[in-house]
Amino acid sequence: MGVFRESKGVVSRQGQAQRPEGTYEDQYSRHGFAGDQAMLYRRHPATAWTRIEGPFRNTVADTNVMDLPDRTDPRALPTVLMFNEDVAVAVSHRSEPMPFHYRNADGDELIFVQRGRGVLRTDFGPLRFGEGDYLVVPKAVTYRMVPETTDNLFYVVRTTGPIGFPERGVLGQYVPFDFGVLETPEPDPARGDESGEWEVVVEQTGRLSSIFYPFDPMDVVGWQGTVAPFRLNIRDIRSISAERLDIPPSGYATFDAPGCWICTFTPRPMQSDPDSSFVPPYHRNVDYDEVSFILGSEDEGATAHRSGLLYVNPQGAHHGPDANPFSQPERPARFTTYLLNVDVVRPLTLTAAYEAYATDQQRR
Ligand SMILES: [Fe+2]
Repeated sequence: MGVFRESKGVVSRQGQAQRPEGTYEDQYSRHGFAGDQAMLYRRHPATAWTRIEGPFRNTVADTNVMDLPDRTDPRALPTVLMFNEDVAVAVSHRSEPMPFHYRNADGDELIFVQRGRGVLRTDFGPLRFGEGDYLVVPKAVTYRMVPETTDNLFYVVRTTGPIGFPERGVLGQYVPFDFGVLETPEPDPARGDESGEWEVVVEQTGRLSSIFYPFDPMDVVGWQGTVAPFRLNIRDIRSISAERLDIPPSGYATFDAPGCWICTFTPRPMQSDPDSSFVPPYHRNVDYDEVSFILGSEDEGATAHRSGLLYVNPQGAHHGPDANPFSQPERPARFTTYLLNVDVVRPLTLTAAYEAYATDQQRR
């Protein structure tokens, strides 16, 4: 943390509240809102630029319309849209079961089910999945995606380090969810007797190999331990909220991994105190690239944010409320959007698969 706390010129003594007349907040934030902060009070929204020249920009793409190989080719793997040394973000339209089992020997995987249902068959047993499920698969656990629907959309976050849970500290054990709601697989003892040949595709340092077995490799009859694949549904997440202030994104962290936070925003009451800002301030999250998937909304018809949209805000890039929050006559009663954020420390490289669909974010 910094060694001084200075206050110069026209300010509010309470950030995100009692905003001085005619000013717009610009929150400068280190360490993803958990570190040093400075609130700048500007005469104009910091995002009100007329144009950007060069590659530094806030972009958006619609993952619904992407032409992904695994929609038609069952052997294809999810398409990587962006990556750094710690994290890769991929999307999948898989419409048929994997014709093989798969093992990611490079790290953990988190699969979010935006659309579709089916079964994730794993070494530990099957996990049924449906919309709004997070499926977490630890490194090198073998699994097979078996969708039972054909119109599917999965977001896949691959991390080189283990995916865990943020410290809960003073919030205690039941926020944002009780660990009791996590579901781990039951072994399926009926499997393993069929004859034939089974393929396990292993991905390691980005290269694929295949291991062949004369029996179904999902033949585990029991397991115990402190690590396993698991399922968490967003309906089981009970986000914190405050009547008098906007909670920063780090307060919505669901998972963490080295170099990465994975946050879930779910609908909640909007702050109602008249002196508080009811939207996040314009901000620069200067130590994190922010990747945001729109998961849906309580009022889908009214929102400009369609599920499946993917926003990318590079570290140091201003962003924030996309409508002028101060022109609205009344504050809304609820924050109605479901969002998944992947915030990463090292700058992301955007792949051609993302760039082909990316456009500049529109400011209104
Ligand atoms: Fe942000």
